[in-house]
Amino acid sequence: MNKLLLISILLISCIGLFTLDIWQGQKFQINEKASVENVLRQLGDQPVEHQLNLKGGASAKIGEELFKTGFAKRMGGRKKRKQSKHFVCTSCHNITKEDPDLSVSDPQARLEYADKMGLPFLQGTSLYGAVNRTNFYNGDYYKKYGNLVEKANDNLREAIQLCAVECAQGRRLANWELESILGYLWSLELKMGDLNLTAQDYQYIENAIGKSSDQKKAIELIKSKYLQASPATFTPPPTDRKKGYGLTGDPKNGKLIYELSCLHCHQNQRYSFFNLDESKLSLDYLNNHFPKYSHASIYQVGRYGTPPLNGKRSYMPQYTAERMSNQQMEDLRAYLAQGRE
Ligand code: HEC
Ligand code: HEC
Repeated sequence: MNKLLLISILLISCIGLFTLDIWQGQKFQINEKASVENVLRQLGDQPVEHQLNLKGGASAKIGEELFKTGFAKRMGGRKKRKQSKHFVCTSCHNITKEDPDLSVSDPQARLEYADKMGLPFLQGTSLYGAVNRTNFYNGDYYKKYGNLVEKANDNLREAIQLCAVECAQGRRLANWELESILGYLWSLELKMGDLNLTAQDYQYIENAIGKSSDQKKAIELIKSKYLQASPATFTPPPTDRKKGYGLTGDPKNGKLIYELSCLHCHQNQRYSFFNLDESKLSLDYLNNHFPKYSHASIYQVGRYGTPPLNGKRSYMPQYTAERMSNQQMEDLRAYLAQGRE
């Protein structure tokens, strides 16, 4: 009897030790689906400031509706007035990955990727991965929005409000709406699989967890794979609009821009009064005005945008150099110049 007890105790402790060993040896598994923010936290990085705060009837689902339709109802509450008469957030922003390599902002790579994935090519940066950024309205945007950018530059909540009022020409969001949109943006956070990491990188990051000297390097490695701030450089129309930027345009590329960008807002007056389609009439009109000093010149509206008149009218946002290159502008011109039978 005593012997049996002793053997049992021995056996149980052996199993115990064995499982303890497995448990200690078990690593935090990092795969393609892992959230970048969670992995950074595992490595001891500071959490981003704009953490979720879904109180008072806010939810990511409400945020998504608001984002895509401009309307949403608070849980158990009433519907508010539409956020903007002119736009929804998806008029100007994608909600999926739009750059094949998230560590650079390259408009031509983005255009080709947009074509492949069936995405529009727009003036606003994709909000996929916005929660993984630390700075907003970067580069030259202070020239357009002045002091307003100061608050929004390192604060995602303020950036959302700025865009709701200034970009979308709508009303400020109520707190539950703002937190809902933030909740929705968290559902669009970056995953490790978005970062084009090699198997070796994964191994390095996994091994670094808990080792203070390697953790810093692993954080740097991860952050080198995506932009924490979307760059924005304002760029003027060419000095001589007849000559243009002095680059030879590629009409095939120009067609992509016309279809994935201009028609996104102008076809059937979707987000605008000015109507465009693929008819000869539209193409000729734009082609004729391209070199002119006119509100209908693409050099003019593409580089300066059109002004919103006291929030009463819709307007066209400009394209920064990162959102449409001078070369692409000439490609568009070449496409329009080609005309249509
Ligand atoms: C008419 C076009 C337009 C509409 C509508 C619009 N935005 Fe924007 N938004 C922009 C532009 C242009 C920027 C400039 C910075 C950038 O994205 O490169 C911007 C910037 C932002 C940024 C900061 C992004 C960054 O990384 O700098 C956020 C966040 C944002 N918008 C959220 C929203 C939300 C939420 C809505 C809907 C309520 C909205 N936007 C509607 C055009 C628009
Ligand atoms: C995010 C939506 C959006 C995109 C993308 C866009 N536009 Fe616009 N555009 C507008 C709005 C809104 C106006 C303001 C006037 C209106 O409501 O029709 C406007 C105005 C214009 C005007 C001035 C019309 C006039 O008579 O004053 C032209 C020309 C124009 N757009 C051409 C283009 C071309 C070409 C492209 C593609 C390179 C383009 N737009 C892309 C929304 C957009």
